Amino acid sequence: IKRIGVLTSGGDAPGMNMAIRAVVRAGVKAGIEVYGIYEGYKGLVEGNYKKLDPSDLDKRIPQGGTMLYSARLPEFENIEVRRVGVTKLKEAGIEAVVVIGGDGSYRGAKALSEMGIKCIGIPGTIDNDIVSTDYTIGFDTALNTAVEAIDRLRDTSHSHIRCNIVELMGRYCGDLSLYAGISTGCSIIVTKETGFDKEDVIKKVKDLHERGERHVIIAIAEKITNVIDLSEEVQERTGYKTNPMILGHIQRGGSPTAFDRVLASNMGVYAVKLLLEGVNSRCIGIRENKLVHYDIIEALDLPKEKNPLYDIVEDLS
Ligand code: F6P
Repeated sequence: IKRIGVLTSGGDAPGMNMAIRAVVRAGVKAGIEVYGIYEGYKGLVEGNYKKLDPSDLDKRIPQGGTMLYSARLPEFENIEVRRVGVTKLKEAGIEAVVVIGGDGSYRGAKALSEMGIKCIGIPGTIDNDIVSTDYTIGFDTALNTAVEAIDRLRDTSHSHIRCNIVELMGRYCGDLSLYAGISTGCSIIVTKETGFDKEDVIKKVKDLHERGERHVIIAIAEKITNVIDLSEEVQERTGYKTNPMILGHIQRGGSPTAFDRVLASNMGVYAVKLLLEGVNSRCIGIRENKLVHYDIIEALDLPKEKNPLYDIVEDLS
């Protein structure tokens, strides 16, 4: 292999820049030219590529977001669109692509590898929703951002008698809510994995109030219910002043934590190593602190087990 590309796709995640840097550094060390493919699959199809110089990338280390930009391109499912992309890559002499992103990005990588472009997927998303890895790049940073925000809420909530309902991102995965909820002592955590029973939530808030808790914080994953309506109903039926807070995109920004930087560096170097070994159509994960790789599609179909941390939530509330 003489020339490879690297792209970021889907929602950006803190640490993506570090993964790009690692791919470039490891590639150049092995005598490979590394091209940045800008704006994900959109740039791949448009031929928006630029050779990356390792010495330019250090300034990106503390930066969130992705220096290669990201875009969602649903049209990439169309084989004709992909053919254009493959032709552009071949014209540029790019033989392999490292794709940093979530599950949608992996599907694109699989499709590309079936068309003769070697691909390796690196899990980059704040959602931690890729079953083939214990942690995705960006999850730890997003989690710490959420923890800081909820800690601030607790300060003010505790000074009064309040209930706060905090909505966290995660797409269809409850990990951000679960980990942030436990980290900040939320009495109630609602995710797809726990299921949502409105009556049960209202009863728990009332019980906690009657037990003498001055404040209750509920962590709830996005896409479960409308938290503004829920807050109004909780307030009405418990008599507890209740404020909704949607954390939103601030969870996606910010400087990556050391954990995410190390994870991204480890995975970026590993991706290049695998390509050099001739490995193709695989995605990288970390399991019990060891790097692993799976067939991309098998990885997406792995069953997700319920996180055992859900068992301690009740004991802590
Ligand atoms: O996948 C990352 C993520 O931030 C999800 O948590 C969220 O559901 C989604 O992206 C939001 O996407 P967008 O920024 O396109 O609205």
